[in-house]
Amino acid sequence: MGQGGEIVCVTGASGFIGSWLVMRLLEHGYTVRATVRDPNNTKKVKHLLDLPNAKTHLSLWKADLNEEGSFDEPIQGCNGVFHVATPMDFESKDPENEVIKPTIEGMLSIMESCVKAKVRRVVFTSSAGTVNGQPVQKPVYDETSWSDLEFIRSTRMTGWMYFVSKTLAEQAAWKFAEENNLDFISIIPTLVVGPFLMPSFPPSLITALSPITGNKAHYSIIRQGQFVHLDDLVMSHLFLYQNPEAKGRYICSSHAENITHISKLLKEKYPEYDIPTEFEGVDEKLEKVSFSSEKLTELGFVFKYSLEDMFVEAVETCREKGLLPLSHEKKQQKQKDVINGKSVSLCHEKGSAEAVGKSSMAKNDHRLN
Ligand SMILES: NC(=O)c1ccc[n+]([C@@H]2O[C@H](COP(=O)([O-])OP(=O)(O)OC[C@H]3O[C@@H](n4cnc5c(N)ncnc54)[C@H](OP(=O)(O)O)[C@@H]3O)[C@@H](O)[C@H]2O)c1
Repeated sequence: MGQGGEIVCVTGASGFIGSWLVMRLLEHGYTVRATVRDPNNTKKVKHLLDLPNAKTHLSLWKADLNEEGSFDEPIQGCNGVFHVATPMDFESKDPENEVIKPTIEGMLSIMESCVKAKVRRVVFTSSAGTVNGQPVQKPVYDETSWSDLEFIRSTRMTGWMYFVSKTLAEQAAWKFAEENNLDFISIIPTLVVGPFLMPSFPPSLITALSPITGNKAHYSIIRQGQFVHLDDLVMSHLFLYQNPEAKGRYICSSHAENITHISKLLKEKYPEYDIPTEFEGVDEKLEKVSFSSEKLTELGFVFKYSLEDMFVEAVETCREKGLLPLSHEKKQQKQKDVINGKSVSLCHEKGSAEAVGKSSMAKNDHRLN
């Protein structure tokens, strides 16, 4: 089931997870139809077009979750669909219409397209936010748990609309799949960390690398964090797509560590950054909260990467792309230069950590997983 040579559609293909997934699918011999909202936006699609095998096995399709039937064309003729796209505007003035509605309606519209096209299997990238949005955290979560939407809506925690949108979309998808006899799998990643292809700073790394960037608003998200390497997550997508025994929801998370552990790891690897190792309300007594991937590993999936791999590869990729300064000394020098009227920029990309840290994301305290 589900071998290379098949035609598959990947939604949200230009993003952090989508682009890595496209790369691995192409490597495994699949023909990939990648959907993006603007195929003519060279900056956002070049990393896809440059992939090995892209010339012969990749095509770009315009599709938007806000437009009913938008995915009909790319999905027609596909054997399988990986639905990865999601709106992530946490600052939306109209979250019900700009985030929640398109996520749910887009999901159902894609499933309609899949039924029409007689797609064999749909794999949905869900979110840990569908599982542990609860007033009190359990020590271990599994696939039977669902977030408490009343709690999420009542607290209006930052990013609440994202948790609500993913939870309602996944629940609607299960209902639709059952009613229409559609083979549907959902994958529940925790915070995804690792190297990446996209040109701008990936949303999840704003959180994961917050001890380096000093984006304090994100510390609480990894206070009791769970993590998975991007490549492990993507390979779990291929594994579950291909495995005839796969059924239901699958958590994909390899590590659970509190923020102090992450900071110590980063500080040891990168002493050139000014990384805090003590955090308010966090001590050695703070319990870890883990997400169990037992269901996935029992099916035969093997995680390959360590916590160190994911963080080091994330930092190295950010540095290579000029999205992180090489050290805080240089950053401090840059600040001095700015004060002295010199215009030196070590980190001038619009999507750099610094830029992102100062932008809307800085205000967010959302979970991106
Ligand atoms: N990264 C994590 O830690 C993490 C953890 C758990 C779950 N997830 C899930 O993984 C998926 C991908 O996340 P990511 O980290 O790769 O985020 P990302 O880099 O922001 O990718 C999301 C993609 O969705 C597309 N998109 C947004 N709004 C859309 C719309 N209205 N219509 C069509 N496409 C739209 C965007 O593509 P264009 O702008 O090119 O159209 C964007 O590239 C999401 O479903 C997210 O919930 C991520």
